[in-house]
Amino acid sequence: MKIQSVRGTHDLYAQQLEKFKFIIEIVNTYAHIYDFNEIITPIFELTELFLKPLGEHSDVVLKEMYTFDDRNNSSLTLRPEYTTPIIRAAISNNLLERLPTKLYGIGPMFRRERPQKGRFRQFNQINFEILGTNDMAADVELILLADDILKKIFLNKKIKLVINSLGDKDTLKKFKHYLSVYFKKNKSKLSIDSLNRIESNPLRILDSKNKNDNDVSQEAPKISDFYSEEAKNKFEDIKNLLTNRSVEFEVNHSLVRGLDYYCHTVFEFKSNELGSQDTLIGGGRYDGLTKTLGGPDIPGVGWAGGVERIMMLIEKDIKVQQKIHLVVMKEDFRSYGLDILNKLRKNNIPVFFDYKYNLKKSLSFANNVNARYAIIIGEEEVKKHSYTIKDLKKNTQKTILLDPLISLLKL
Ligand code: HAM
Repeated sequence: MKIQSVRGTHDLYAQQLEKFKFIIEIVNTYAHIYDFNEIITPIFELTELFLKPLGEHSDVVLKEMYTFDDRNNSSLTLRPEYTTPIIRAAISNNLLERLPTKLYGIGPMFRRERPQKGRFRQFNQINFEILGTNDMAADVELILLADDILKKIFLNKKIKLVINSLGDKDTLKKFKHYLSVYFKKNKSKLSIDSLNRIESNPLRILDSKNKNDNDVSQEAPKISDFYSEEAKNKFEDIKNLLTNRSVEFEVNHSLVRGLDYYCHTVFEFKSNELGSQDTLIGGGRYDGLTKTLGGPDIPGVGWAGGVERIMMLIEKDIKVQQKIHLVVMKEDFRSYGLDILNKLRKNNIPVFFDYKYNLKKSLSFANNVNARYAIIIGEEEVKKHSYTIKDLKKNTQKTILLDPLISLLKL
């Protein structure tokens, strides 16, 4: 019986895993430089953590959550995103006593979406949150952090930053109302998906991928006409701060994001090389969310990036450490072989042993896995306490003692 992996999931190994680790290392480095504390939370939570905060009419809650009953009948859900679990954990563990609190987390998320390029049912997110400040400098710091990470990973790829403001909660409520009224008037031109969203989630019609929907949206009321004075000032503040730092961005009032908890700033980093799933990083402000989750009434802002999508843009192979293969020609020399393995490893030199005791088979194995060196142990070597080292790329070999061997392989 051949058991397949679950649709929309994938295994990470070889170059893909190297790319994954390369990204995580950069993320950890910048998390350290920007002074965020790491947090690891459970993969599943009580379902109610997600229902209201993400929006009962959001796609995630309506059709994408992996929800199941535990044996005691409590409803559990595999986390579809990291913001709510991180806030839950910050509240549970009293991490909100000295504000602002800056936390980051990395790990797998689960959404039952239709799998396609760049969209999986289990995927990994990197996630940064700042809790407890209204200062737009926090939004800017987070954008700069994302920009630094992406620039470090891609060096010179073109990634676009798109920003918008959704205003405060009242702005958003008013805007949603007028938007519903407008879309109702234009019902006949909308796609079925959008028709279903007129009452429940009219914002999402604005970022529909359907051409007719986009045509209707062109003439729709604009969120910017509904901003309060405070919302307008906040948006100006963030735009000025970004411009002063020479961060290029585009304002797009149709950028609404898919989760319900956002207000004020929302932003996305996009690439035009990814097809329809083109957002690498998405985030924004969520004032009010911490209170909804039973914590203090404090504001918050953050973002999450999809590791798999970022991996897809890394074109070059990641250099891996040169492989060293131990070849023991006969089982009689096994003990001598184990000794040299031990000595090399004590010197932090990685080495692979294949237990074949056959020169031809071992060298062919070493070549197939692209090993750089083979250390060959035969009768002469054992007698003379030496080691033959073969450079498999240059096809040269020499016999040397332990110290020179270690110096050569340490380079
Ligand atoms: P999100 O836009 O739902 O936001 O997801 C953030 C990122 O996760 C996306 O831009 C994408 O790169 C990646 N992603 C999402 N779904 C998938 C999928 N099915 N397959 C592969 N990658 C995916 C959030 O999750 C918010 N919690 C972000 C946030 C943090 N807002 C404030 N703080």
